[in-house]
Amino acid sequence: MSNFRISEIKARQIIDCRGWPTVQADVWVDGRLMGRADVPAGRSTGSHEAHDLRDGDERWYRGLGVEKAVTNVNNDIASVLRGWDVTEQRKIDMEMNELDGTPNKSRLGANAILGVSLAVARAAANACGVSLYRYINPTSHVIPVPLMNFLNGGKLTANDLEIQEFIIMPVGATSYKESLQMTTEINEVLRDLVIERYGILATNTGDEGGFATPMRGIHEPFEFLSRAVEKAGYTDDIVYAMDCASTHWYDKEKKIYELDGKAYDRDALIGLYKEMTEKYPIVSMEDPLEEDDFEGYALLTKELGIQIVGDDLFVTNVERLRQGIQKGAANAMLFKVNQIGTLSEALDAAEFAYRHNYGVQVSERSGETEDPLISDLVVALNSGQIKTGMPVRGERTSKHNRLLQIEEELGTAATYAGRNFAKPA
Ligand code: PGA
Ligand code: ZN
Repeated sequence: MSNFRISEIKARQIIDCRGWPTVQADVWVDGRLMGRADVPAGRSTGSHEAHDLRDGDERWYRGLGVEKAVTNVNNDIASVLRGWDVTEQRKIDMEMNELDGTPNKSRLGANAILGVSLAVARAAANACGVSLYRYINPTSHVIPVPLMNFLNGGKLTANDLEIQEFIIMPVGATSYKESLQMTTEINEVLRDLVIERYGILATNTGDEGGFATPMRGIHEPFEFLSRAVEKAGYTDDIVYAMDCASTHWYDKEKKIYELDGKAYDRDALIGLYKEMTEKYPIVSMEDPLEEDDFEGYALLTKELGIQIVGDDLFVTNVERLRQGIQKGAANAMLFKVNQIGTLSEALDAAEFAYRHNYGVQVSERSGETEDPLISDLVVALNSGQIKTGMPVRGERTSKHNRLLQIEEELGTAATYAGRNFAKPA
């Protein structure tokens, strides 16, 4: 056992990329070194996520403040964890869950608990003198393929696209460095095409940095993407993906998906997706159906034969994942630490996915800070795929740039996942 005692825990309210308050936590070891982590937040959230505690006082930040969560860290959590060994990640996470005492972390707040959980991991890595990814997994070596969401819609923009993310995956690159170069070049070409057709205003971006163009439906974005890819000269190196985020355009009462002015029942929507996969090399689809339709997911997963990723469906929760696996719903899990609220539970969900031959895609939230933590996590998980937005704004570039550092640090041990992104060796 190490002798790295937690001497202090201190949280504060900071600001995320949307200008919304969020929690930053510091965990001190022996009063001499520190681990710090910021908590991300979603806008297009699933209804089964752990509880993001907000103050609700309209006088400050229109009710979005997190001062209560900060106080919970500085009082309740700090007073219990002082003196604990910082390397006891799981014990610490379980202790915080017990202290909270609710099934969805609604008393202390998942944002309070997660801030400490992540800062504990950073502090422990610092105490051991190694990078976070290496602390979590000494055999980390897979560098992920980035899922670049070039065109944005849904809740993350103000345009009429129902589908939230139209994504390019540079699977033909040989390194992260090359994947960034390719996708950045394609984005510049896409920018020219968008300006040519819609004018300069159409190059404004959504929450994750993709263009929020006034396109419609599902076909037009793919036409633009494939033209940009071709013009940039990368047709053979690129495949496509989508985050449909379909819960947010599903009418629960009518049991109908409303897309581009047309109503689709589940079977018709699966038919449309099938048509799209025959027309374009689409290899991955996230949240193609609403968040509680496990049976529909099972049908669709069989029918499409590509990677189907559950985000709002699984919410990084072992219990939801277990249900999905039993039914054959989807074949990959989106990994978002704040959906579940501790590092240990998120890692458990990933391990559970792997054991059942499901893939894991590590993901940003639409509300991020400059903290690059998920870049270390994706390498620690050897997951092979990361969704972390367009490299055009600081809270996204921090993740891409961190992956460049890790790739360099790993040197010849690094393997870019490439076409094996779903099941990297
Ligand atoms: P969110 O969006 O972070 O707002 O949930 C991202 C996603 O749906 O994948
Ligand atoms: Zn999603």
